[in-house]
Amino acid sequence: MAAFVSGSVSSSWNSNVSKSAVCKRERAAVLMVFGSDTVATAKKCTVRVEEGNKTREIQVDAGKNLRRALLDAKVDLYTLGGKFRNCGGNGACGTCVVEVLENPYGGVTPMTTKETFLLTGKPNTWRLACRAEVTSDLAIRTKPKQN
Ligand code: FES
Repeated sequence: MAAFVSGSVSSSWNSNVSKSAVCKRERAAVLMVFGSDTVATAKKCTVRVEEGNKTREIQVDAGKNLRRALLDAKVDLYTLGGKFRNCGGNGACGTCVVEVLENPYGGVTPMTTKETFLLTGKPNTWRLACRAEVTSDLAIRTKPKQN
């Protein structure tokens, strides 16, 4: 005998994000089968990553830190200098910068004051990956260059 129960699991990401910008929702489901483990799935977002001439897509749990997601997917996030002097995701060095190509105002959490300070004079589509959490599908470019 088995029972199936499904429903939403509350998420930690910004509730101000418009519902239309929310990525495909994989409804969190809890499968309860008598005599086996409980399984839960999280909402997934697609992040298209442009790294130089290469483009690929990675699947990221909503609410996950963008820097952590990129590093987990083995994305070459940092320039050579950034590889040696990055702050490890503490929002202090500015080396984890990415350009958000699509959905810049809905795909990630809003900029923090510290991030705004570090990116002074840069295009408003640039973000520090370590200060941003993924909230919906988006596209980014690593190591952006200012025109
Ligand atoms: S890793 Fe240093 S600011 Fe993001």
